[in-house]
Amino acid sequence: MAHLFSSCGLAAGRTLSKTSATQSTALTSRTAAIAATALTLGSTVVYQQVYGEVPFLDSLSASSPAEDGLHPPAYPWPSAGLLDTFDHASIRRGFQVYQEVCASCHSLERIAWRNLVGVSHTVDEVKEMAGEVEYTDGPNDDGDMFQRPGKLADYIPSPYANEEAARVANAGALPPDLSLIVKARHGGADYVFSLLTGYVDPPAGFKVQEGLNYNPFFPGTQLAMARVLFDGLVEYQDGTPATTSQMAKDVVSFLYVDH
Ligand code: HEC
Repeated sequence: MAHLFSSCGLAAGRTLSKTSATQSTALTSRTAAIAATALTLGSTVVYQQVYGEVPFLDSLSASSPAEDGLHPPAYPWPSAGLLDTFDHASIRRGFQVYQEVCASCHSLERIAWRNLVGVSHTVDEVKEMAGEVEYTDGPNDDGDMFQRPGKLADYIPSPYANEEAARVANAGALPPDLSLIVKARHGGADYVFSLLTGYVDPPAGFKVQEGLNYNPFFPGTQLAMARVLFDGLVEYQDGTPATTSQMAKDVVSFLYVDH
């Protein structure tokens, strides 16, 4: 598993890898965030014309779905209550999804390897995963920086050296750090789940901007991230069938944990 970090050039301080280069062609030019306002206005109208008010009765709020994104349904996340019962198996699978699918674009800056211990993995497993990543450390007594294998206290490596590099690799868009994403977004876990599973064809006549992708749950309905989860994309060690919704549920369970 952890070798993925190194093979994607994810180790801290590494330069951009081939992976990033391919990604930038996949997500072609994203004009600018400025376009978002104009877009929102346009898509509100389209929404009303295409859907009217009937199918999304529950989701209608003061603002239109196009502005705020479609309101996600509420799912029963296991850790939502006061008496938290984490689904460790799901969190573990979710880390695998993060590592194999999301980690090539999204950092998890606030999460150290040790945060996984007892949550998704045993201490030995975490040590092994950390050890497979190279970190730059130093300076040593000679004033030189050096490479060493990761340890429990190290943070999960980021895919890009800095924000500029992240944008270059994603045609101008910045993949946000995922450490606090569930808390940071209105709708939390339900929103992230709905976003990951909610890519659909745009309504007839709706023009999706070049380089963006239609997703009714995203505020403004178009975002730079394409659909990334497809049935069978990962192979779970515990034999759970990796359907799109299973992977989405697992990765959200993982991101939802208070590390
Ligand atoms: C190929 C690169 C890439 C991959 C792989 C990827 N993302 Fe993204 N993601 C992006 C970019 C770029 C954005 C910013 C989109 C925008 O602002 O238009 C983004 C945005 C997001 C957002 C924020 C949406 C919002 O409300 O602002 C979430 C949540 C997210 N990604 C989750 C994930 C998860 C979970 C995975 C793995 C299952 C994943 N992404 C895989 C590139 C990627």
